[in-house]
Amino acid sequence: MPAARVRLDDETFLLVLTGAGVSAESGVPTFRSGGGLWENHPLEQVATPQGFEADPRLVWRFYSERRAQAAQCEPNPGHVALQALEERLGERLLLVTQNVDGLHRRAGSRRLIEIHGSLFATRCARCQRAPFADDSQVTATLPECELCAASGRRALLRPAVVWFGELLDPEHLRAIESFIARGRRRRLVFLAVGTSGAVYPAAGLVDNARAAGGETFLVNADPADNLHRFHHFVQGQSGHVLPTLFEFSGPTQRA
Ligand code: OAD
Repeated sequence: MPAARVRLDDETFLLVLTGAGVSAESGVPTFRSGGGLWENHPLEQVATPQGFEADPRLVWRFYSERRAQAAQCEPNPGHVALQALEERLGERLLLVTQNVDGLHRRAGSRRLIEIHGSLFATRCARCQRAPFADDSQVTATLPECELCAASGRRALLRPAVVWFGELLDPEHLRAIESFIARGRRRRLVFLAVGTSGAVYPAAGLVDNARAAGGETFLVNADPADNLHRFHHFVQGQSGHVLPTLFEFSGPTQRA
């Protein structure tokens, strides 16, 4: 049984933020630990618009490999536990993930915001067309935007992930704010799982939740950079901790 448990009742609005640690037990590499992605791939080269401009082939090779790797991974008991919560809480749950691996979706989560985009989507580097589903491997020819081509411009397609220096989708931020505002009027709980608390604005959500009177929990293998902002810390592997973390009081039916 975990050191602290998250109590959920019929008033609870639960905002969950996940990071790479949630997928670690599925075999998806994290970013900042020893052997993490940013150790072997300078993020300036593969996770910035400037890196893409300088060497789009290198960037596409990196994301093609990550697509192939993530496609071979399966959701673990941590993803499954969060999906089961959605069944129970309905609209009183919002899952915000920084992960681009698609594993929450594959576990069945639908009340889900992928704030850093998706490995399995592609968009134009130039025009505002909506991202489209895409799991292709880009090896030789760099893909170009056919909508731009139709109006006589050349533009490359790029992975629909958010890179450093880019803004998050304002609609996503609005949806999160509005969820917190609803929780503020009832009982708000914030839970961060498997994230080092190093990348903003995600790492600041704990502060937004606290400002709205929320009770805050962190489940992580190691103390996160923003650990001191949390009321409770459960140290451990998310696939092990999450299945027994929640304690229900009352029927906790859909809001
Ligand atoms: P990090 O790699 O920074 O942190 C992962 C955290 O998960 C670490 O604190 C680990 O201790 C913890 N961890 C590892 N295995 C775990 C497990 N099985 N259970 C629980 N915790 C575990 O990854 P993120 O915080 O997700 O952004 O990184 C945030 C963002 O930085 C990413 O979305 C990405 C990256 O640069 C972009 O690419 C825009």
